[in-house]
Amino acid sequence: MEKSRRSFLKIISNILGGTLVAGILAPIIGLIIHPWLKETVYGTEDFIGIGKLDDFPVGIPKKVAVTSSKMDAWNIFEGLVMGSVWVIRQKDDSLKVFSTNCPHLGCGIDWANDVSRFLCPCHEGVFDVNGKTISGPAPRGMYSYRTKVENNTVFVDYKNIT
Ligand code: FES
Repeated sequence: MEKSRRSFLKIISNILGGTLVAGILAPIIGLIIHPWLKETVYGTEDFIGIGKLDDFPVGIPKKVAVTSSKMDAWNIFEGLVMGSVWVIRQKDDSLKVFSTNCPHLGCGIDWANDVSRFLCPCHEGVFDVNGKTISGPAPRGMYSYRTKVENNTVFVDYKNIT
């Protein structure tokens, strides 16, 4: 009788011990294998969609925000505004995309429709519709980005400025 009671208690003890160990190990194993089973980092793609080609009028610069979603090991950022760009659709539907930041000291550049020029308010920098410096202290023309159009959507290579 005493022996069967001990055996019973030993079995119960092993079951409880095993459950406890499994309860501790399961989350640790899950944490270790999680990166292999699921994408844990994104938002580092080169080209980001900025709108439909038809949204951009031919010959008139349009300023658009560049937004992306990003996830790192701990956080998810949805609709993160990365910055903005000036987009000029050409007659042949090719695109020129410029940074909104001045190549002099980084102030925001605006398009002045009345004079058909990009103007930087900080030190009176002036650029033509192709981003070329007309006057002011900027050492170069406006920074630009590579673009591509797929399925009528415009993408900009926002990571690589030229
Ligand atoms: S920052 Fe634009 S001209 Fe100086």
